[in-house]
Amino acid sequence: MKNLLLILCVAILLIGKKAEAVAADKPVYAIIPMPAQLTPKNGMFVVSEKTSLIFSDDLQNEGTFLKSVLQNYLPTVDFPVNAKSKKSTIELLLDPSVKATEGYELSVDSKKITIKGKTSTGVFYGLQTLAQLLPVASKEANTSLKTVLIPAVEIVDSPRYAYRGMHLDVGRHFFPVDFIKKYIDLIAMHRMNTFHWHLTEDQGWRIEIKKYPRLTEIGSKRKETMLEKNFDPYVGDGIPVEGFYTQEQIKDVVAYAATKHVTIIPEIELPGHSLAALAAYPELGSGTGPYEVGTKWGVFDQIYSPKEETFKFLEDVLTEVIALFPGKYIHIGGDEAPKTEWKKSELAQSIIQKEGLKDEHGLQSYFIHRIEKFLNSKGKDIIGWDEILEGGLAPNATVMSWRGIQGGIEAAKQHHDVIMTPGEFCYFDHYQSKNVDKEPLAIGGFTSVEKVYSYEPTPTALTKEESKFILGAQGNVWTEYMKTTDYVEYMVLPRMSALAEVLWSPKETRNWDNFRTRLQVLVKRFDNMDLNYAKHSID
Ligand code: ACM
Repeated sequence: MKNLLLILCVAILLIGKKAEAVAADKPVYAIIPMPAQLTPKNGMFVVSEKTSLIFSDDLQNEGTFLKSVLQNYLPTVDFPVNAKSKKSTIELLLDPSVKATEGYELSVDSKKITIKGKTSTGVFYGLQTLAQLLPVASKEANTSLKTVLIPAVEIVDSPRYAYRGMHLDVGRHFFPVDFIKKYIDLIAMHRMNTFHWHLTEDQGWRIEIKKYPRLTEIGSKRKETMLEKNFDPYVGDGIPVEGFYTQEQIKDVVAYAATKHVTIIPEIELPGHSLAALAAYPELGSGTGPYEVGTKWGVFDQIYSPKEETFKFLEDVLTEVIALFPGKYIHIGGDEAPKTEWKKSELAQSIIQKEGLKDEHGLQSYFIHRIEKFLNSKGKDIIGWDEILEGGLAPNATVMSWRGIQGGIEAAKQHHDVIMTPGEFCYFDHYQSKNVDKEPLAIGGFTSVEKVYSYEPTPTALTKEESKFILGAQGNVWTEYMKTTDYVEYMVLPRMSALAEVLWSPKETRNWDNFRTRLQVLVKRFDNMDLNYAKHSID
């Protein structure tokens, strides 16, 4: 009896210590991005085989997602759906009284979890938050679990910015469909909503276009890649690189993204960064060629000719692209298009004369205007990199500000929508540590997680009215040196976690130390998902 008492006392002491330790070293609500309003409550909801999942047909997709989230912990449980239960229900609801389009309200008490959204997107984000209230259990332990606990809480949440994006360049290196889906999962997990798919480049054309088969027969293949940074003298690795997405694969990815409430913006680069297309159809070039799919990095002089045949080709290509991507935007590039060839081209000069354009920048503007007019006529809007400001902005264009923030400021002052992607904060191809020797080869720069977290997308130079044109921001992932999916994960994680919070959470609630503590939990989830994140970046 005495022994029993002693054991009891020690046990109580230990439990007390444990609770203290938990409270001291990590918050229970380790959610990224941090919800706008979170009120902790006492108690726990117990998920068990008796938990009934309640949702209407309108929320079938979200209900299926909920089930899969719970089955990560209780893989053999087939949760009852729409069964009456007074003790344990998780209910998903559409509710017009929820304020924001992407907003949700999540309530957890000991008997019931309710997630309300104005739209299914809001409900889905509520579920992403719920997933982060679940414990970080190791995969191995899960099969023996009978119940899972979720801490009680009240959350009222909606995003600060409407555009929360991640970009991926599949031109420099090609990544398979499975990885593209994983990338979309990551975007959704971070309650981001846009995937900017950079599909064409000097070094590879990656989208099947049925009317122009040589784009992929020739343009999707390069004979080799420059070895590390051996620009001059050039040294190639002798290893061919190829790959493209068929239209069927693209349809599959687009449909998958829709289930994750992610919109895909395809990018078809013009008038520069088009060497792979010109290798396939040299007659569309402004120079004399010969053209070969690029094997080294940088900005090339080769550019589309502004002749009628080129516009016919691009309109045909874009017609097939439009049919694949239901979103409202098509990104048309517009960046880094040297005017060297247009300066020398009689045809280019004759168009400048005929159209009364000021110079070659005017010609680029004419080029983009025509493409915009075509896309607008098909019900699509264009996005272009900030060079599309040069020579005059097309009337309805959205500007992606990448060479710093000035382009974004200028565009917003002209009352054009803007997506901020300044290199200093949003280029995830930069080094993330000053210890460059210990890092995999990268393009340069230095953009740490903390730096990303410090980013403020709305420039102070804008008035309140002008600030409304800043739709949000995006992380850019140029893959010159990222040969593998592991490497992409390493460069993206956890920097995109920091950007996600910048874009979602109220500015006043942002706190680096608190974020870092929550990040320690999130990366454990990354571990469970076999994601390769930059471990040193959270030390
Ligand atoms: C870019 O980084 N060239 C948009």
